[in-house]
Formats: sequence, structure tokens, C-alpha cells
Amino acid sequence: MQIYRFNSIDSTNLEAWRKLKGGEVPPFIVVADVQTAGYGRSGHVWHSPEGGLWFSLAFRGNYRPELMSLAAAYAVAHTVKEVIDFCPRIRIPNDIVIGRKKLGGILIESDPPDHVLGVGLNLEVREFPDEIKNDAVSLHKVARKPIERDKFLNLIVKKFFQTLQKGEVYVSNWLCCLGQEVSFLCGEKQIQGRFMGIDDFKVIIDKEGEFVECPLALVSDFRRGIR
Ligand code: BTN
Repeated sequence: MQIYRFNSIDSTNLEAWRKLKGGEVPPFIVVADVQTAGYGRSGHVWHSPEGGLWFSLAFRGNYRPELMSLAAAYAVAHTVKEVIDFCPRIRIPNDIVIGRKKLGGILIESDPPDHVLGVGLNLEVREFPDEIKNDAVSLHKVARKPIERDKFLNLIVKKFFQTLQKGEVYVSNWLCCLGQEVSFLCGEKQIQGRFMGIDDFKVIIDKEGEFVECPLALVSDFRRGIR
């Protein structure tokens, strides 16, 4: 697959869209050492200095958004486990966390049938800005081996496509906060209760003995604990 490499770029997602709109045929990858205008979900700034894996995969096809989202989170978590033998967790919808801290994030943008999957993974990020330093973590803190960025890139992309092709993904073993009290937004509605897992792309919550469901696609601001 074609890989476009940059030392520095505004955002690999933006570059992937520019290439798609310019007629470039997917799949292809854009990867950069540094992003000057990296962004995350809801337009948040994504801190992207040297030392991270910042890439976007442009691909084409008709896939359920929830499948793409979980397949991406699974591919990243699985790759971290495979490469450094450390098991991170998926905090739905698609953060990759170690404990309460964010190791990586996933942003999928679609203009069907084209999609851009953006992955940000803090591999060897030595410093975080004050606003996020208590909530972010870098993999070098737990890795006992040298971190090879391209190995992560190749395995994530391979696992992601394999999972999409299968059309299903089981993430129970990878979920953060299972069996714990959580709170999150289901669309506009605040939900609190015990997190029981995901079934058929729906989040299942035990609310004082009664099961409540929320479509995964509507979940945001998922947190451990009660607000
Ligand atoms: C999030 O957790 O909000 C998602 C973060 C996604 C960041 C990645 S880094 C590579 C790609 N380019 C971007 O500008 N964003 C994504």
C-alpha cells in the first residue's frame, strides 16, 4: 500500500482528504513525525510532537460506523499487546487507555464510500502540555523494549482490515471499566450505572437492576465513576 511520509504536516487526516479530493485512489496511508494542527473528536487539539505515531488511513467501502470505530480501537489495543506485551484498554467509543490515562485516540471521518481513519498513539512522547498532562500517558513508560514506530503502523492497519473483513469484533476482554460504575452521554442524555458490556453495537448498563441500552454510535464522554 502507498505510504506518504512527512516530517511535518498540519494534519494527516487533512492531507488524506486533500489527496482523496484530488483523485488519489484509496487505500493509502499518510504518516507524519509532527503535526502542527492535529485534531481529535469534537475538533479538540491533538498534541502531536515528535515521538508519536500520527497517521491516517484512507479507505473505501460500505461499513457500519460502529464497526469501523470498534475495529480501529481493537486493532490499536491488539497491536500494543502484540508488540510490547502490555494490555491497554478500550474506553468506548474509541480511546485507548492505560488506567485512567489516554494512550491513544481514534478519529474516523467519512464521506461515503470514502473514509479516513486517523490514529494518534503516544509512543515516546516525553512531555505533555499542562492541560492534558494528568490525563495522558506515553507507551515508553510501560514498554520494556525499543519502540519501532513502523511496526505499530503496519500491524494496526493489517488488524483493522482483517477485522473489517470479518464484519464483527469482540472487545469484551479489552474494555475499560467493565462491571464498574460509569457515566456518559447517550446523545444528549446523561446515563449512569454499572457498565455490563457491548452487545450488537449497543452499550448495556445496569441501572439499579434494570438494563438500559445505548447505541454505541451515540456514546460520548464516557467516564469511570458517577458525576
Ligand atoms: C481523539 O481521541 O479525539 C482522536 C484523536 C485522533 C488524532 C489523530 S493523529 C493522526 C490523525 N490526524 C489528526 O489530525 N488527527 C488524527
